[in-house]
Amino acid sequence: KPQELFGKKRLNSKGWDLHNEDDLLDIENARQAFKTHHWSGGPLMIAKATGTENVSVKNPADPSDSVGTLTYANAEDVETALKNARAWQDCDQAERSRILRKAADLFEENFGEFFALLTREAGKVTADAIGELREAVDFLHYYADQAEALEESTPRGIFTCISPWNFPLAIFTGQISAGLSVGNGVLAKPAQTTSLCATVAVKLLHEAGVPKDVLQLLPGEGRVVGARLAAHANIDGVCFTGSMLTAQSINKSMAQDAPVSAPLIAETGGINAMIVDSTALPEQAIKDVIISAFQSAGQRCSALRILYVQKDIAAAFIEMLYGTMDELNLGDPWIFSTDIGPVIDRTAQDKINRYVQAAKSEGKLLKQLYCPTIGSFVAPAVIQVGGIGDMAEEIFGPILHVATFKACELDQIVDDINASGFGLTFGLHTRIDERVEKITSNLNVGNMYVNRNQIGAIVGSQPFGGEGLSGTGPKAGGPHYVKRFTIDENTTTHK
Ligand code: NAD
Ligand code: ALA
Repeated sequence: KPQELFGKKRLNSKGWDLHNEDDLLDIENARQAFKTHHWSGGPLMIAKATGTENVSVKNPADPSDSVGTLTYANAEDVETALKNARAWQDCDQAERSRILRKAADLFEENFGEFFALLTREAGKVTADAIGELREAVDFLHYYADQAEALEESTPRGIFTCISPWNFPLAIFTGQISAGLSVGNGVLAKPAQTTSLCATVAVKLLHEAGVPKDVLQLLPGEGRVVGARLAAHANIDGVCFTGSMLTAQSINKSMAQDAPVSAPLIAETGGINAMIVDSTALPEQAIKDVIISAFQSAGQRCSALRILYVQKDIAAAFIEMLYGTMDELNLGDPWIFSTDIGPVIDRTAQDKINRYVQAAKSEGKLLKQLYCPTIGSFVAPAVIQVGGIGDMAEEIFGPILHVATFKACELDQIVDDINASGFGLTFGLHTRIDERVEKITSNLNVGNMYVNRNQIGAIVGSQPFGGEGLSGTGPKAGGPHYVKRFTIDENTTTHK
């Protein structure tokens, strides 16, 4: 009962069980109508948009599958949307929360369309599509509840919400619903690659009762639409999730062009580590490494990037890891038994493959699986490194780096992780309690997981967000989040 931790009555979204035949049939029947559907998406503004640039959206697993057509907003649309935007103050708190909960119901009712779209537009396997929808629904309920629980609150005004493609429904909805819950107006800028999903979500939010001038959708180029929306004299705050470099660029331009009172809530990437010592339960640790590094094709900010294995067990552990990797099914994400689908697009595929090739030419590629040759697939790989200091950047795909350590080097590893400047997730497998206490006390990392995998934070019980280069806080899905969208909040970050 996760949400009881924060005094909540409601349990998290129930979801579907992929081991249950009735649930599989339920999913297949509901999404079948959308297997060849052609969506059309674009700006959803109160005034007419003028952008005419049309983009054809292709399935990353199969470029011959045309998923839809998207129209981008342009710079003029941004100005028009801002001119017409308004906060949601004419509606009382109970009504706002009711409308957000109604939107959650509509999301759940339309699960077949979302699952098809998440798979065909974003390459999500069914388990990930289920996770996305559940998290989006949880955010809608959680922020509706949290906003109601505030004794009194005043919205800041108009928020710009900029989201990434790797959680096109969950993070997109989380940002928007937090802003709306306390009465802000929202201008939403989804990632270019997943704007059809955003279009369907915003249509349902409008259908639930969110006024069309309170929530406007502006798909388009980051450097055109996103940059302008983030650094404008008429915005009162920016909520951003994406790469660290984009967050830094937004930070700079806000300092120059946005009101000084406008906060930037930024959640970014990480070079996330896991330590497995020689007391760990190997089967459990292997399972958690596989999930953490390869689920969602490694395209999670929380994903495991560098595994430290204690020397005494390293050879046997890594052998078991390879054996388990060999069992992974790569391929069409529509098929229920597929474990790993494609990466988001050709550009990402090429970038990751170049990185793996460079490691191979340096003799550091330890293991690589095969993958389909059609579509943006990347073969999961294991690369040898000395430690986190060898890793210059976050590689956003199914690539696991491995280093070994002796027990006497643990303090140094903690210092090295802290010195990387990132601090998003961390995993530890050990049966030594004092070690758990010492390591977790000394690490500057937002979310730490002991003897389990390190992805998939649950709204309401595992507030999610990083420290240092990984984020400003407050944590999404936690009790301090919606306050940051009000002018009453005085809380510190990172809670
Ligand atoms: P990105 O930074 O390239 O893009 C994110 C969003 O910013 C997109 O909507 C993009 O169009 C927009 N954008 C790009 N340039 C912009 C600019 N100059 N001004 C304003 N907006 C701009 O990131 P991405 O590739 O979409 O997402 C992957 C990254 O997101 C990874 O680094 C991942 O770790 C991170 N991420 C973090 C979290 C978290 O909660 N911490 C969650 C998911 C993803
Ligand atoms: N909240 C997401 C996770 O925990 C990013 O994996």
